Amino acid sequence: MQLERILQKHGFGSRRECRGLIRRERVAINGQICDDPFVELDTDGLVFTVDGVDWPYAEFAALMLNKPAGYECSRKPKHHAGVLELLPVPLREREVQPIGRLDEDTTGLLLITDNGQLNHQLSSGKRKVPKVYLATTKHPLDQVQIDQLMAGVLLADEIEPIAAAAAEIVGDYQLRLTLTEGKYHQVKRMVAAVSNRVEALHREAVGELTLPDDLKPGEWRWLSAVDLQKLGYSK
Ligand code: URA
Repeated sequence: MQLERILQKHGFGSRRECRGLIRRERVAINGQICDDPFVELDTDGLVFTVDGVDWPYAEFAALMLNKPAGYECSRKPKHHAGVLELLPVPLREREVQPIGRLDEDTTGLLLITDNGQLNHQLSSGKRKVPKVYLATTKHPLDQVQIDQLMAGVLLADEIEPIAAAAAEIVGDYQLRLTLTEGKYHQVKRMVAAVSNRVEALHREAVGELTLPDDLKPGEWRWLSAVDLQKLGYSK
């Protein structure tokens, strides 16, 4: 694929703008400046550099972000900064979007992609992808609450009770809850339904994919082929 086209595909602007970047010697391949926009490159395993930042060639963008509190997941945030602002401009230009949403005050694993199929596979209710949350509660937890969450609680606007896939007490005020749906404020509403209240909420995992310990709040990274496998992504 031509270098100019590769840059365009990765969100560096129009073909003309990408050509300009290349001609101004801001792009390198294997550590060598390349000023030919029309050079043909093998994209397999390609890493190109723009202004000193490495970009792996990615047919589609798929990333994980450790979402900090204080960011909204919607594309048009109303009251707080948008979570996409934590990403570099070229990724935003690729029109990536969060897969599902976390509340503004929820922290932890957020997946982001421009791949409609991946987004659909992970957010579709039918696939029942488990999401694991660590909730800090206002009142002490007890086995009665856990049993209720496991048996199912009826939430407003729902026809049937919703049960947790797993629930365990990990501290007097801490609960690990696994849900397979993705309903609005689901953890907070379920915990409220057992007469408690969520004070802080953190997502630890989606499917088999766990938030890495070394990914600090506000940091993101590309999903590897292994990560995608853990998410059960199939083309
Ligand atoms: N459940 C909630 O209540 N909030 C979230 O952000 C995610 C799940």
